[in-house]
Parts: sequence; structure tokens; C-alpha cells
Amino acid sequence: MLLQLQTWQEVEAYLKTAKGVIVPIGSTEQHGPNGLIGTDAICAELVAKGVGDAAGALVGPTINVGNAQHHLAFCGTIALRPSTLMAVIADYVQSLARNGFERFFFINGHGGNIATVGAAFQEIHAARSFAPGGNAAGLRLRLKNWWETPGVQKLSKELFGNREGSHATPSEVSVTQFAFPDAIKKAAMGDAAGSQRAFGDAEDYRRLYPDGRIGSDPSLASPEHGRRFLETAVTDIAEEYRKFATQA
Ligand code: NI
Repeated sequence: MLLQLQTWQEVEAYLKTAKGVIVPIGSTEQHGPNGLIGTDAICAELVAKGVGDAAGALVGPTINVGNAQHHLAFCGTIALRPSTLMAVIADYVQSLARNGFERFFFINGHGGNIATVGAAFQEIHAARSFAPGGNAAGLRLRLKNWWETPGVQKLSKELFGNREGSHATPSEVSVTQFAFPDAIKKAAMGDAAGSQRAFGDAEDYRRLYPDGRIGSDPSLASPEHGRRFLETAVTDIAEEYRKFATQA
């Protein structure tokens, strides 16, 4: 159930029996020679919609621009500073919490968001803990990276081995190919397997990774693989969401 497709009365009725909401968060950034700029947001949104359907949960609008300064030397990338992203997350959460949502389950499509989302969660909790009077209803915030579930990791190892890499991976490119078969791109690319070095700013990143990938071979991507990744991620995460939304 998408929040965007409900009326306010329907959301009010939902809150009588549930307190949880799923928040997809991604990024808008280069994804190598054949990956779509929207890959991280597309993957997070698809997994979130699947989990929402499986668990009967509301899914909020996707936060589709993230912490991606290191990709800015490539055309099409849009980045928020960490401080901006934290402010966006705080306002998003507090808007919904104001009217009764208490469990926020973020489904993330971008590794670069992890530290910032964690810091944003701590800011939100701190604001509540320091508030005069205190003792507001408990708020729980969780971040789930879709590519890290046991089932997804197993499938990636089985299909791609050490050619998965860590950016513009064949797994995430497969998911976008399943979702948007008309946007599948063909591109020649050399062997990038094994190259994984720490980077700093956008210029440094482009010097180290000239075609945008980090250690991956996204030419192995296929829509059929994408279907399997999506199904596996939804199954694994729906179970975790149910527990998160209902445990005391
Ligand atoms: Ni990505």
C-alpha cells in the first residue's frame, strides 16, 4: 500500500491497527557503463513495495537522492550533503510520528547512505530524549540494506562469485533490468574484478574508478536474475518487517 495513493482518512484508519511504515531510500548517481542513474532508488522502491504488499504495510514516498558526493564527477549524479540528508530524514520521520507512526523501517539501496542514516536516527532520538517533559511514545527506527539479506548474499555468490563487486553490481543492475526491460543498456567494459580501494572526494573516485564501477562485472546482469533477487529480498525482509512492526 503506497501512502501516496491513500486518503488521510484511510491513513487514520490504518493507524488504529498498525504503527509501522516502510521508507525506501536510495540515490541518484552514476552506476557504471550499463547501470541506470536511478538504480539505488529503483531497487529500494521495488523491494519496499514488495515488502509492503507481503506485510500489509504502508510504504512512504521514496527518498531518491542521497549521500553521493563521491559520484559527482560523473554526469547525471545528484547528491545531498550528509547534513541535508539528515534534515530530510528528520522532517520525514517527525511528520509521520506527529500523527501516530512509531515504527520506521527504512529499506536502503545505497551503501553511501548507511552512516548518514544512522546519524540521522541518533539525532531524532536525541531530540526526543532531550525534549522537556520527555516520555513521548517510543519511536523505533531501523535501516535495512536490501542487498545484505542472507538469501540475496547467497544468490549473488552463486550467480556472480567475486564479480559482484561493491558498486554498479550485477545484482542491482539485474533488478533494474527486470523492472525496466525497455531501458536495458549494452556497453563494452573491461575487467574490473578485484579493484577495491578507499576513495575520498569525487575527483579521487573518478581517478580510481574511471568507468564508475567498483570491482564489479554488471555485464552479467539479466532481467531473470533481477526477478530472483527481488523475490528473495522481499521474502527475507518481509519476515523481518513483521517482527519489527509488532514486537513490544
Ligand atoms: Ni547502487
